[in-house]
Amino acid sequence: MIAEHPAGRAFDTMADTYDDDFTQSDVGQAQRSAVMKDAFRIFPGRRRLLELNCGTGEDALRFAENGWRVLALDASERMIACARVRRENLGARDNPQFRQVATEDLREIAGEFDGVFSNFSGLNCVRDLAPVARMLAEKTTPGSPLLLCMSTRVCLWETAWYLLHAKPAKAFRRWTGRHQAMLQGMPVDVYYPTLNTLKQAFRPHFRLRGVRAIGLFVPPSYVESWIQKRPLLLRIFVRLDAMFSRLPLLRKLGDHMLLHFEKTGEAV
Ligand SMILES: C[S@@+](CC[C@H](N)C(=O)[O-])C[C@H]1O[C@@H](n2cnc3c(N)ncnc32)[C@H](O)[C@@H]1O
Repeated sequence: MIAEHPAGRAFDTMADTYDDDFTQSDVGQAQRSAVMKDAFRIFPGRRRLLELNCGTGEDALRFAENGWRVLALDASERMIACARVRRENLGARDNPQFRQVATEDLREIAGEFDGVFSNFSGLNCVRDLAPVARMLAEKTTPGSPLLLCMSTRVCLWETAWYLLHAKPAKAFRRWTGRHQAMLQGMPVDVYYPTLNTLKQAFRPHFRLRGVRAIGLFVPPSYVESWIQKRPLLLRIFVRLDAMFSRLPLLRKLGDHMLLHFEKTGEAV
């Protein structure tokens, strides 16, 4: 019997509509395609990939199609069920493997991996990432890349959008580093670590190789209905993100940060 994780239970309520609400949205596709462009550059020729917080399996299925053996984990039973249905609909049998495992329980899984991937803020639901980094170090080969897409502490779009809508509490909700979100009435604690805190949490097993913003000009998902009516503007924002998202200050001010770590030779 799998112990239920509070975040897993909360995300269960979103699983059935997640792909319509986010994966297929214009914002979701624009932000994801920026992440995947980097993922395919950073992970070439690698073989065994561990994905954390895989949701409905969009990225795991893509990696598997491109030759990776993927073990994809999520705390939500419903998300994992949706991911398995998608895999079956594609006619695939055991790659990716989808398992209901919380990130805090990574020790439960067997095997060694050549890369680790986490997309769209699942790691923001984990209070302390240092033990996670230690567990990942035990399960990865030397030189393995980690590519982690996490919500930022300060998102320019979010602050401006909610101030313009006279919602100051929402405008600044990330700034204290912690916020309780409600998913269909179910609470989930969300943490917004700074870049320095993240570097420290992953040291000494992983060293930071690069950081870029995901969703700097491209807006967050709650702006979907506004940006959908402005497709040309969205295309311009995608181009601007490609041009400016790696600049030192701006890379921390998007909706998400994409962090590229590499496993060092430090003993675990
Ligand atoms: C915003 S969704 C992102 C899903 C997917 N990675 C994507 O790109 O669409 C966040 C996911 O993180 C999962 N999650 C949250 N906290 C978790 C935890 N502590 N352990 C494992 N999964 C978690 C949720 O169940 C949810 O599926």
